[in-house]
Amino acid sequence: MEKILWLISSPRGDASVSQQAGNKVIELLTHRYPDVQVVVRELVKNPVPFIDTEFAEKMFMTAEDASNEPSLQVSEALIAEVVEAGAIILSTPMHNFTVPAPLKAWIDQVVRADRTFKRTPVGKVGLLKDKPVYILVATGGIVLGDDATQPDFLTPYLKAIFSTIGIHDISFAHLERAGAEKESFDTILNNIRSELEIVWG
Ligand SMILES: Cc1cc2nc3c(=O)[nH]c(=O)nc-3n(C[C@H](O)[C@H](O)[C@H](O)COP(=O)(O)O)c2cc1C
Repeated sequence: MEKILWLISSPRGDASVSQQAGNKVIELLTHRYPDVQVVVRELVKNPVPFIDTEFAEKMFMTAEDASNEPSLQVSEALIAEVVEAGAIILSTPMHNFTVPAPLKAWIDQVVRADRTFKRTPVGKVGLLKDKPVYILVATGGIVLGDDATQPDFLTPYLKAIFSTIGIHDISFAHLERAGAEKESFDTILNNIRSELEIVWG
């Protein structure tokens, strides 16, 4: 593996639970693959622009045509990062039951008809090569299982988004109430470590 793409979408910088967990995962992976290059895309520090009128008019261009289209340059650069990555780590908090807006802006630039997926009579079919994606989700409340006190639109949404562009090898680690319970944060990080042994062992 030559490159890992690490997407960070928390506004909380070093205090971010999902970012700290991502950091641990990156540490593990760089230990395992010492020559790997980590490409970090900080979606709050360097926000991806929202799509605009021109983008909406031009977005159906193929890669070849899009390379000369100014309004698609951000989209092309972000797609290139996904294509070139051997694996993707996504650190994200849950905001209002789903993904934070800066991550949604990235998704809107990357998930493009006729470029990263094609439309067929039976639905959308991904055009990118499959690769492992490890998603670290930090939540303030309990969102999974029988004890959940709120809906989780983030997990099924991200599964659908990545599989739409052809990426199906997706693993999640949910850091529920992780900021509140330090011990559980450490336990979760240990679980992530063991899981990674299985996923990328
Ligand atoms: C604007 C905003 C909305 C939030 N919405 C939710 C939510 O819907 N459900 C939840 O469990 N936590 C919610 N939280 C709490 C965060 O998910 C939680 O603090 C998480 O640990 C933050 O991750 P981070 O430290 O990586 O930023 C919200 C936080 C913010 C700032």
